[in-house]
This record gives sequence, C-alpha cells and structure tokens, in this order.
Amino acid sequence: MEGDDLKSTKHIGAFINSECVGILSLFEAKIDDHLDEYQYQLRGMAVHPKFQGQEIGKKLIEFAEHELRKMQVNLLWCNARSSAANFYDKLNFEIISEEFHIPDVGPHFVMCKKLR
Ligand SMILES: CC(C)(COP(=O)(O)OP(=O)(O)OC[C@H]1O[C@@H](n2cnc3c(N)ncnc32)[C@H](O)[C@@H]1OP(=O)(O)O)[C@@H](O)C(=O)NCCC(=O)NCCS
Repeated sequence: MEGDDLKSTKHIGAFINSECVGILSLFEAKIDDHLDEYQYQLRGMAVHPKFQGQEIGKKLIEFAEHELRKMQVNLLWCNARSSAANFYDKLNFEIISEEFHIPDVGPHFVMCKKLR
C-alpha cells in the first residue's frame, strides 16, 4: 500500500512456528484533519482462513493498541468491512459513519477507538 515503507508505518504479524497466520498494518493518518489528536489508521487486517476464530485477530489488535499507546497515539481508526464490524465492536471500536461502498471491496463503516 502507499506509505508502506514510511518510518511511521508499522507492520505487525502473528506467527505460529514461524508461519505468518495474521497481519495488520498501522499508518499515521488522520480521519479528521481538524481533530488535534495523534491518529493512526489500521489497514490490511487479516487472519488466514485456517486460523480464524482462534483470537489471533483480537491479539493482533491488542498488541497494536499497546504499541500505539507507548507512542502516545490518541486515536485508532479503520474502514471496517461491514462483515467484520462485529469483530471491531467486540474490541470496543465505535461506528462513526454511515455505511459506504468501496468499489470492488464492498460495504464498510468508519470505526474508531480512543486509546488514551
Ligand atoms: C475479521 C478477522 C480479522 C477476525 O480475525 P479472527 O482471528 O478470526 O477473530 P478472533 O478469533 O480474534 O475474534 C474475536 C471476536 O470477534 C468475533 N468475530 C471475529 N470475526 C468476526 C466476524 N467477521 N463477524 C462477527 N464477529 C466476528 C469472534 O467471534 C470473537 O468473539 P468472542 O470474543 O465473543 O468469541 C478475520 O476473520 C479475517 O481475516 N476475515 C477476513 C478479512 C477481513 O474481513 N478483514 C477485516 C477487513 S476490515
């Protein structure tokens, strides 16, 4: 993705016996330029289908939140696939938009979570 190699971008993986089974990336990006908070966008959240439902996604997000809090980041947000909105809801993200469509991907909501 654009910005993959920026110093501010973080890529986190979940590994079982050296096999990567889950990923997420964190990009420094503001959902709202007017908000004076230090914000990151979560992108590329995925767990290999064979390993879904084993709390790997949850652990990846919790690890990401821990790292972002250490960096003093205030807000984490994402464009959540509507089919995954419940996953983020369980991790205390809030829906803050109407549902919208991303071409070739499908329906999404903007969801966010205050970290501090
Ligand atoms: C969404 C995804 C990342 C979740 O990862 P996962 O490791 O399977 O999720 P976890 O096992 O950590 O689930 C944590 C909780 O969320 C729930 N959950 C997980 N995926 C869900 C989904 N798609 N819809 C509703 N609830 C979901 C689980 O039931 C679990 O609830 P519990 O704590 O009450 O048992 C994974 O299913 C995935 O990669 N899906 C395909 C790609 C995708 O949709 N990515 C998100 C793009 S925004």
